[in-house]
Amino acid sequence: EPPRPPPVRTEPEPEPEADDGRKKVTVFFGTQTGTAEGFAKALAEEAKARYDKATFKVVDLDDYAADDDEYEEKLKKESFVLFFLATYGDGEPTDNAARFYKWFTEGKERGEWLKDLQFAVFGLGNKQYEHFNKVAKVIDELLAEQGGKCIVPVGLGDDDQCIEDDFTAWRELLWPELDQLLRNEDDVAGASTPYTAAIPEYRVVLINTEDSAYVEKSWNFTNGHAFYDIQHPCRANVAARRELHTLASDRSCIHLEFDISGIGLTYETGDHVGVYTENCLETVEEAERLLGYSPETYFSIHADKEDGTPLSGGSLAPPFPPCTLRTALTRYADLLNSPKKSALVALAAHASDPNEAERLRFLASPAGKDEYSQWVVASQRSLQEVMAEFPSCKPPLGVFFAAVAPRLQPRYYSISSSPKIAPTRIHVTCALVYGPTPTGRIHKGVCSTWMKHSLPLEESQECSWAPIYVRQSNFKLPPDTSVPIIMIGPGTGLAPFRGFLQERLALKKSGAELGRAILFFGCRNRKIDYIYEEELKSFLEEGAMSELIVAFSRDRPTKEYVQHKMSEKASDIWNIISQGGYIYVCGDAKGMARDVHRALHTIVQEQGHLDSSKTESMVKSLQMEGRYLRDVW
Ligand code: 2AM
Repeated sequence: EPPRPPPVRTEPEPEPEADDGRKKVTVFFGTQTGTAEGFAKALAEEAKARYDKATFKVVDLDDYAADDDEYEEKLKKESFVLFFLATYGDGEPTDNAARFYKWFTEGKERGEWLKDLQFAVFGLGNKQYEHFNKVAKVIDELLAEQGGKCIVPVGLGDDDQCIEDDFTAWRELLWPELDQLLRNEDDVAGASTPYTAAIPEYRVVLINTEDSAYVEKSWNFTNGHAFYDIQHPCRANVAARRELHTLASDRSCIHLEFDISGIGLTYETGDHVGVYTENCLETVEEAERLLGYSPETYFSIHADKEDGTPLSGGSLAPPFPPCTLRTALTRYADLLNSPKKSALVALAAHASDPNEAERLRFLASPAGKDEYSQWVVASQRSLQEVMAEFPSCKPPLGVFFAAVAPRLQPRYYSISSSPKIAPTRIHVTCALVYGPTPTGRIHKGVCSTWMKHSLPLEESQECSWAPIYVRQSNFKLPPDTSVPIIMIGPGTGLAPFRGFLQERLALKKSGAELGRAILFFGCRNRKIDYIYEEELKSFLEEGAMSELIVAFSRDRPTKEYVQHKMSEKASDIWNIISQGGYIYVCGDAKGMARDVHRALHTIVQEQGHLDSSKTESMVKSLQMEGRYLRDVW
């Protein structure tokens, strides 16, 4: 089988013509999965159609400037900017916005240096998380503080509901303002022209594989880049895989090791690994059937016309390399998430049954809002399930990959090893996602299912592999090894702490003096899902940690969680905090991390005899100093 190439990045758009008298608008995006980028491009497209007296340039925040000074210099020259910013995990920016965010939030005081700037910010977040849309809110506030003029209130998109609706609503607030700013007095006619976004579509070229050597030539995915990132992953073999639960378990948790020897990929303890994953054959075959194409169909997709001019004003994601439909569906199509409203509209456009088209359009319309949130979102109907219910929809491949199925995204795992112990391996600890949805479908998580069934090099030379890359994190041990630490990580939240403990063990062996380390771990039953039990015990024996405290939630009639154990150890925790120690939390953000945060709050309040506002500011300052770190999802 040919190696899998990395996704190809498009060239940046050429600069618009120098000062032609048109107002210049820059549309920035901070995107992880492509939604913010999609919104930025959709907005720019529509704006271009509405205002011919202005230019709209969509810019990746990372590509905008090479360093802090350049950010400052270029931003000073802007007169009108829009931001689309997603917030991740513990209130963090996306990878491509991280540099900008750090500079803009931590950079030196610059006073009102953005007086000539008009701006608007739309955030993409999820209400289930504590720091809902933090990045967008912070940037919005700072822009105003530094003199910028905000033209509409910050938009707070909520992915827990329908973020497309939030975007639409925010856009409706934006247009009247833009009308005033970007239209000439005499140019009123355009204002009443309604705009309907065209359905994006790639140009597809079917390739006859028999009469050319095309297949071989087009695959030249080689490792050995100067660096690896989300656009340039690196092919890594699965070296080892084992089950961490005991046979008594009705669930599964996989320990997997990627071999990174000799491929130029490095990592640090506490980093994340992004894994480009594959849909399983069963899912792919069903998609082939629904689309009505042969799996052998060999094709290429193009975001430009034959003459090289961009299609859809450049709003299409960079194409994947030429391949068979089987490969395209396996590697590039997200088939198991719920379809977006725009996908329903695209399906409707290719339904031969008018009733199906009408129902799909209704679901995507403002009138169908409740129906969509019930029938699609709450029921967790996958794209594939929806297509199966509308069998007359046969979108052409160019439409399917541009507008119906989003690109399959890498999945992220907290690395559970330390390069000090495992320099040529990246260890992953992955809980299998498997279970029925409200419609009775069995949902199988794409990457965890792939990992569970992967074939390690230990067992076969024909082992499984995946493109991976390392994403750096701030979740790091204190620089001074003698500083005491508290680690809280139930379930797979244990992953980075296994890395920490490996690291500490290596440090200890090389003579470092180690501070106290307490680990709070939690699982359901001692005999079933107490993962890495033996290893944890030997870390204890060998002195990599001082105390191991485990909460078993289902061994007794009453639930016992890590935060209950923390309360029992309140004075120890307070002592460690008072000695300048660090607190680390890893795992589920929606329940566990929130409850642990509350428990910590209570401990600080009671042990420190503080009132609630003093407690609040103490916990805040721990966070600000980087002594209370969270790796949550
Ligand atoms: P439970 O499933 O029995 O409720 C790892 O998933 C462990 O975290 C399990 O023992 C799980 O318990 C527990 N857990 C679930 N919700 C939690 C919460 N809000 N805080 C702490 N632990 C939690």
